Order: sequence, then structure tokens, then C-alpha cells
Amino acid sequence: MGALRILVTGSEGFLGSYAAAAVTAAGHEVVKTSRSGGDAAVDLIAPGMVAAVVEGLRPDLVIHLAALSRMSACERDRPAAARANAWLSEQFARRFGARLLMASTDLVFDGRSAPYDEDAAPSPLSVYGATKAEAEERVRGHGGRVVRLPLLFGPDDRGRGATAALRRALSAQAPMGLFTNEYRTPLHAADAAAAMVAAVVDPDGPNVFHLPGPERVSRWELAQRLCAGHGLPIDAFEPVECHDPLRPRDVSLLGGWRAERSLDAMLLES
Ligand SMILES: NC(=O)c1ccc[n+]([C@@H]2O[C@H](COP(=O)([O-])OP(=O)(O)OC[C@H]3O[C@@H](n4cnc5c(N)ncnc54)[C@H](OP(=O)(O)O)[C@@H]3O)[C@@H](O)[C@H]2O)c1
Repeated sequence: MGALRILVTGSEGFLGSYAAAAVTAAGHEVVKTSRSGGDAAVDLIAPGMVAAVVEGLRPDLVIHLAALSRMSACERDRPAAARANAWLSEQFARRFGARLLMASTDLVFDGRSAPYDEDAAPSPLSVYGATKAEAEERVRGHGGRVVRLPLLFGPDDRGRGATAALRRALSAQAPMGLFTNEYRTPLHAADAAAAMVAAVVDPDGPNVFHLPGPERVSRWELAQRLCAGHGLPIDAFEPVECHDPLRPRDVSLLGGWRAERSLDAMLLES
């Protein structure tokens, strides 16, 4: 296979830089778009903007990450969440079909019947989860492909992602409560990005797939493991119970894909 030109939307987000690096590492050419940077720094919601970006950058394939990804922002403004998550995804899927891979989330599930495999039916609790579930449907309706991601972590100079947020709290000496009763299967963003690139370049890849991290852990356990691995003080964090009805208690993922390294190995690079 020759080098392909792959568009990463949401390139300036937490996962975006990992995805762009993974495209290059796989020997392909990356083109990038987000509101704040990339080859096309635009608001993709603006009229005609998706067509303009596609015509300008002429990608062979798309890894679609751009989204309103903060749960609280989605709850505050459902129409904005629907536009950024469902409508925008459909705009790319209409143009690219199976040459599009859209990032969805484990939060499309309600957490009552984990672990979830690829055949499980979405049952979202939050606006974020609901708009992502709607995006999945619309994307698949145009033959596009969907990857459901778990909680992601890894170094980030802006403190985004699960472990960078912990490190930021440590350096700011800001006490932080961490849920003991919300379980996910966290994954290093570099591992997620490499798997997504491998999937999008494979024309025979699955339509919907999961990228489960190596273990089911709570946020509190994740912090304990990070601190143990790096000799950091766990007493900066406090175990707390989550009572938020919008946050599913266990959205552990199962899937055909297996991580190639352990959670502790991933945390050592976090
Ligand atoms: N991080 C996780 O743990 C996780 C877990 C599951 C699924 N996901 C999914 O993976 C994807 C990437 O997540 P992330 O953590 O990297 O999210 P993020 O840090 O919030 O980044 C989102 C990106 O989307 C861009 N964007 C949003 N609205 C836009 C618009 N109207 N026009 C153009 N660009 C727009 C943002 O641009 P600017 O920053 O330039 O404004 C940013 O680059 C998302 O679809 C998310 O739902 C993430």
C-alpha cells in the first residue's frame, strides 16, 4: 500500500496530536484541522466549511475526532452538542463512507451490564453519550466506521487526559477527589491512535470496534497505579464515591482488539 493522505479532525485536541503522530509513524501523510490550528484552522460547524476543508485538503481517508467532548458542556447546550457530535460526523460520513473512522465513546453505554462487546446496544445516560450514539447511527447509515474509545491517558502539556490531569493536580498541590465506583478500561492515547490508523487504512476493517485498555479500573485505582509506578504521593488524592446519575458506573469494554502492553507499562509513559 502506498502512502495515503489522512485528515485528522480535532487535531489540536488531546487525542489529535497522538493521532497525527501515529499517521506519520505509519508512513502516511497527515493533514490536520481544528478550530485553533492545523492546516485548516476553522469552525467546521460554519456553513460550507466541511466542503471547503475537504476540497482544500483532499484527503484519502478521515480520522474524525472533532467533537464537543466535555460532558458538562454537552449538558449545558444540547443543540450545540448535537451539532458538533452528530451533525458534523454525518457531514464527513456522507462524503467518505467507509473511508471515515469516527471516534465514539464507552459513554454510549449505561453502565448496568458491563463488560460491553461490539454488539451491545447503546443506552446513553448523558447528552454527550446520546449525541455520540446518534453520531454512530448517522455515520453507519452512510457506511462510515466507528471506534468506541475508553478513558484515554498519556502526557499532554495542557493537562488534558486522565493522567495529565492527575499530574497537574499534583504540581498545583490541589487536592483532588477520585471516584472509587466508576469503572472503565483506560488506554494510553498512543496505543489508541496507532490502532485507529491501522483500522482506517484497512478497507476490510470492522464497521464498529472497541479499543479496550488492558484492565478494568476505577479513577482512584488508576491514580494509585500511576503514583506507585512513578513514586508520586498518592495522599494528594482522595477516594470519593460518584453519585452523579449521568455517569455510568461500569463501562468496561470488550473487543476483538487487544492492547500489546500492560496498564503499568502504559502508565510508566504517562
Ligand atoms: N479523551 C478521551 O478520554 C476520550 C474517550 C472517549 C472518546 N473520546 C473521543 O475522541 C475524540 C477526541 O477526544 P479529545 O479528548 O482529543 O477531545 P478534545 O481534547 O476536546 O478535542 C476536541 C477537538 O475537536 C475540535 N473541535 C470541536 N468543535 C469543533 C468545531 N466546531 N470545528 C472545528 N474543530 C472543532 C477542537 O478544536 P479546538 O481545540 O481547536 O477548539 C479540538 O481540537 C472525541 O470525539 C471524543 O469524544 C475521547
